[in-house]
Amino acid sequence: YVIGVDLGTSAVKILLVNQRGQVVREVSKTYPLIQEKAGYSEQNPEDWVDQTVAGLSDLLKYGDCDPKDIEGLSFSGQMHGLVLLDENNRVLRNAILWNDTRTTRECREIYEKVGKERLLQITKNPALEGFTLPKILWVKKNEPEIYRKAKTFVLPKDYVRYRLTGKLHMEYSDAAGTLLLDINKKEWSKEICRLLDIDDGLCPPLLGSHEEVGTITPEISKVTGLSTSTRVFAGGADNACGAIGAGVLQDGKSMVSIGTSGVFLSYESDGNKDFGGKVHYFNHSAPDAYYTMGVTLAAGYSLSWFKDVFAKEAGFDQLLAGVDRVPIGSDGLLFTPYIVGERTPHADANIRGSFVGMDSSHQLKHFVRAVLEGITFSLNESVEIFRENGKRIDAIVSIGGGAKNETWLQMQADIFNARIVKLSSEQGPGMGAAMLAAYGCGWFDSLQECSDRFLKVDKVYDPIEENVKKYRDLFQLYKEIYPATA
Ligand code: XUL
Repeated sequence: YVIGVDLGTSAVKILLVNQRGQVVREVSKTYPLIQEKAGYSEQNPEDWVDQTVAGLSDLLKYGDCDPKDIEGLSFSGQMHGLVLLDENNRVLRNAILWNDTRTTRECREIYEKVGKERLLQITKNPALEGFTLPKILWVKKNEPEIYRKAKTFVLPKDYVRYRLTGKLHMEYSDAAGTLLLDINKKEWSKEICRLLDIDDGLCPPLLGSHEEVGTITPEISKVTGLSTSTRVFAGGADNACGAIGAGVLQDGKSMVSIGTSGVFLSYESDGNKDFGGKVHYFNHSAPDAYYTMGVTLAAGYSLSWFKDVFAKEAGFDQLLAGVDRVPIGSDGLLFTPYIVGERTPHADANIRGSFVGMDSSHQLKHFVRAVLEGITFSLNESVEIFRENGKRIDAIVSIGGGAKNETWLQMQADIFNARIVKLSSEQGPGMGAAMLAAYGCGWFDSLQECSDRFLKVDKVYDPIEENVKKYRDLFQLYKEIYPATA
């Protein structure tokens, strides 16, 4: 057996997977988001550790297997979040998360001191509020007494892995999202550190996603029931792990993931293409590979926000029940999902969302459909960038919340004008983490072999010509809302 731990933004999801790739047991534990002000988004790293430990003990209490038979464990984690540690590796402040947008000024400072061209050459990415480097600069400027005590920074899952093993590392796929990694050389950029007056000693040692960091400590073994012989592998960024769990391991393969954020991602064997920073370009968790992606900051989050505010009592299934009876275009209602700002294609932390075209005949189900359509239109703006850069996108594996509803899956096929593939027992990034552990344990010679064995197609959704045409017109209207509201 192997375990995949997916440290998400709303919850940690833990999967126990057998050698045939079947999920034998799954547990999930939530933790709160701390939003002190508009634009701020933090979490307490101790909540991650407590809930991961509680989740692991729950997972084992069903007695599905002898803990000694769990050969490996690995991680997937929400990206970019800054965890600052002191000289004893104690957490110095709450983690500042990927969807926190307080750092517009720091992004400007990065361009002034490093230069946009040079930054793109080294990191392949522009300075965006969500990435880690601007958060480090924010703490340095606004909380100098904390910054002075900082000895290391890590990303969310790295901290949890440290608490489980006592070993502190970062791996390439997540390091790529810090804006401090030279993504081709796979080393920390001393040049960027120097130009921004950051001590490069803050950057932890690096390794590959499938590499072993150690084993479970006796203390963690005692509280969870895990064996101290279980090997722990580094793991990857949640989008890289989502891609592995979706079998996105060759050129031409792509994925759409609708979780809290929404992502359209495409595999790249070449780390030297030029997208001019319009899409994110990161190291994959598959050895020596890369991926590019566009990000909608509030995808599933737009839907859960809408539910919390307007239909708190309903379950998601109930909320989505009537949307297939609302016509395409929600009878004139459009939604833009910019409720916490946006990343792709509008790198704009200040834009906010809107409903446009409200009519007295609209009911709750119209609003729900408009939210689904708006999220999918936003992701289609990323798909469009890839197509404009000459990429052929014929088939896309859909994962996350967006893959759980038939109407939404067909909507994705019609809006993206591409075949949408749904996997059976789709498990998202947690499965990718389990696959990294399986590969690390030597069960397979490659991740591709693991993917061939573990992943199966459940159903495909092909675009319906008539719907494609209707959405194409609506998409043009949707795109007019950003400049009109900016
Ligand atoms: C990617 C990003 C989000 C988080 C969500 O750049 O910020 O997709 O990884 O966990």
